[in-house]
Amino acid sequence: MANSKSEHPGIEEITAAVDFLVSRGVEAPVAAIVLGTGLGRLVDYIEDKVVIEYEDIPHFPVSTVEFHSGKLISGTLESVPVVAMQGRFHYYEGYSFQRITFPVRVLKGLGAQQLFLSNAAGGMNPAFKKGDLMLLDDHINLLPGNPLTGKNLDALGPRFPDMSAPYDAALNTQILAAAKKENVPMHKGVYVAVSGPCLETRAEYRFLRIIGADAVGMSTVPEVIVANHMGLPCAAISVITDECDPENLQPVNIEEIIKVAGVAEEKLIAIMRNVMRTMER
Ligand code: HPA
Repeated sequence: MANSKSEHPGIEEITAAVDFLVSRGVEAPVAAIVLGTGLGRLVDYIEDKVVIEYEDIPHFPVSTVEFHSGKLISGTLESVPVVAMQGRFHYYEGYSFQRITFPVRVLKGLGAQQLFLSNAAGGMNPAFKKGDLMLLDDHINLLPGNPLTGKNLDALGPRFPDMSAPYDAALNTQILAAAKKENVPMHKGVYVAVSGPCLETRAEYRFLRIIGADAVGMSTVPEVIVANHMGLPCAAISVITDECDPENLQPVNIEEIIKVAGVAEEKLIAIMRNVMRTMER
């Protein structure tokens, strides 16, 4: 049996985590939600909450970034059964890609029918301003690995999953409609994932823009790969927290990024609540 710190958790570990959560009163969510850096306040709108610390969940990694809070919250959002992760895991924290994405396996194991993700990202498209939102239309994986390497979990998905449309068209249409109703402008674009934890040099931003990315961040792509592997439809929204113009690059700091995320978060919350209200159940 793999031990609890296995870097390649498998079906047994997923089942143990799912069984534990069910025993603690977590019900099958219609929507699973992963909240990014500085974007955890959507959980304030979840009713009939069951709150579980990550450290109590078997085989869950424990978030090492102090501003990520590390709680799984189940309940209803606008009457829709949801499970939200307040705080996620990043490669730069030192975990394997399989460990980072283990929670997504567990969310699907609980019965989630769709996955929504948010993140803080640097805007490289010159039309993007601090505090804007971008719906992910596609991504580029520049992380140094992939969560599907190693033995394939055949019971969960295929060895070579299709990635021709990693973000679900129907969910994206719903999000764009919700943004319109809430009067929130929404860009669409390509997200590139890098390892971090340092931010990019001017030459790197120039390179990332040339290869076709509109925004850059350190998360989301591993989770989206695993969701696609399991046939779990997903959608993701970036909050643009800094403007990455290589010809006029200002030093950024993480406090500033979190502050901008906190201000823009209101828009994200309005959109997500609207999406839930219009969701078919
Ligand atoms: N680069 C990488 N990750 C980020 C950035 C950035 O500029 N801003 C927020 N997350």
